[in-house]
Amino acid sequence: FKVRMDDLVSLCKRRGFIFQTSEIYGGLNGFWDYGPLGVQLKRNIKSAWWRAMTQCRDDIVGLDSSIIMHPRTWEASGHTNNFKDPMCDCRETKARYRADQVRVLRPKDDGEGLIFAFMENDRGPAEKKIRKLGSGDASNYEDLPLPEIALEDYPRIVGPDTRTPGTLTEPRAFNLMFKTYVGPVEDHSAVAYLRPETAQGIFSQFANVTSVSRQKLPFGIAQIGKAFRNEITPRNYTFRSREFEQMELEFFIRPGEDASWHDYWVEERIRWYGTVGLPEGRMHREIHGEDELAHYASACTDIVFDFPFGTQELEGIAARGDYDLKQHQTFSGKSMEYFDQENNERFLPHVIEPSAGVDRIALALLCEAYRMEWIPKDGGEAVTADPDQKRPPEGFEQRTVMRVAPCVAPYKVAVFPLLKNKEPLVDKARAIYGALSRRWMSFYDETGAIGRRYRRQDEIGTPLCVTVDFDTLDDDTVTVRDRDSMKQIRIPVAELEAYVADQVEF
Ligand code: GAP
Repeated sequence: FKVRMDDLVSLCKRRGFIFQTSEIYGGLNGFWDYGPLGVQLKRNIKSAWWRAMTQCRDDIVGLDSSIIMHPRTWEASGHTNNFKDPMCDCRETKARYRADQVRVLRPKDDGEGLIFAFMENDRGPAEKKIRKLGSGDASNYEDLPLPEIALEDYPRIVGPDTRTPGTLTEPRAFNLMFKTYVGPVEDHSAVAYLRPETAQGIFSQFANVTSVSRQKLPFGIAQIGKAFRNEITPRNYTFRSREFEQMELEFFIRPGEDASWHDYWVEERIRWYGTVGLPEGRMHREIHGEDELAHYASACTDIVFDFPFGTQELEGIAARGDYDLKQHQTFSGKSMEYFDQENNERFLPHVIEPSAGVDRIALALLCEAYRMEWIPKDGGEAVTADPDQKRPPEGFEQRTVMRVAPCVAPYKVAVFPLLKNKEPLVDKARAIYGALSRRWMSFYDETGAIGRRYRRQDEIGTPLCVTVDFDTLDDDTVTVRDRDSMKQIRIPVAELEAYVADQVEF
């Protein structure tokens, strides 16, 4: 990866993709706001998913269920009892850690009684921190499983996550659901939760949706919406947040067809990632082993992406059997069975669940698209810049470009008059902008030198720039410049819309 997270984070703030939430009050850890560009990027990701799921196929319908649901939902789904992470506190600093993110190490040689704990984080591998301890490489240390350490040996914390060394408490379970109260009385009977996933809204409406949509197995219900998890250690920018958006499909099938539909959805989802600009080469399938599966699941594959901070999950695709429908049937007392008219039988369908995170896909797209390039001043191909070198070599100039796929680019096209003080140029550019913006998110810019205007659009990923110059007034043609190749062509205004459509629509 050529992108450094610090460079990307700074561009995202500078250009308005992502801001820290409540920044004026010092921010709130794990919550983010999407600026004018970020909101467009996310909308485009969601539209591409919604289109692929509900528009381009006739076997999936949509749903938008509420964020706060009856609390019995979470008893049925198992979240009330099981949606917990093991957590440790630092006794001195009061900092909190997810126990599975802590690596506990004991020096093999003279380190009797000395145990160190490190947070695994994005600031570098644990080995770097071992070197800080002054005892060379990782092979001098043994890894200890945290829950098995005797209380009197509880680890001392060293490393960058705590400025002052401290001591960890034993791990304890922490439920990740955000609690609230419905109605004016804040007592036990009014407790409700912000949903930690959108999936349960789909399962609990299974009977209604099936009867109104007249779908026959196999068929799916798709939903996009916010989910909330009180993550112990939100980190890696927006990757692990406390408020995020999910795109979930529950695809209902006949029992026994689980393996083949699971494989189908893994391949289908990988293909979709290609359409929004995440190449197969940077995506991997992580197949869960038997011992990693929930007791009701027969298969689970994570689709992971090579982020600059490590290879991490974008989406999980699970074959969940009839677990969810059965649980809701038991807890609600309402039948969740499907009636098969052909065979005149009732049964609980099985389900395949592809569940993706919008924010993680947005982050992956930004990481994938971000480039610093050096362009030869005398023309020729751009080369990727060395991020450690502040300035380009002699004869080159530098540009930052978001090579994001046109279908997810925040703006599809920008329109410039060559000069802002020449009324006929401005009028013509405004008219072209007016026509294009009815169809696509378009950007109008008349300030600064034309080269600088191109660079601004490069930085925010706009695939095409249209310039109105003096020739336009004579022959009604414009210059269209391509973001990636930086090549310019001349085309008649009358053909512009068709040309843009060809370049940016999918
Ligand atoms: N219904 C299944 C389910 O929720 P999950 O693996 O817990 O499964 C699915 O979540 C997806 O939601 C993940 O692959 C990820 O993209 C996204 N996601 C989960 N927790 C997240 C968090 N704290 N921040 C951002 N995205 C998250």
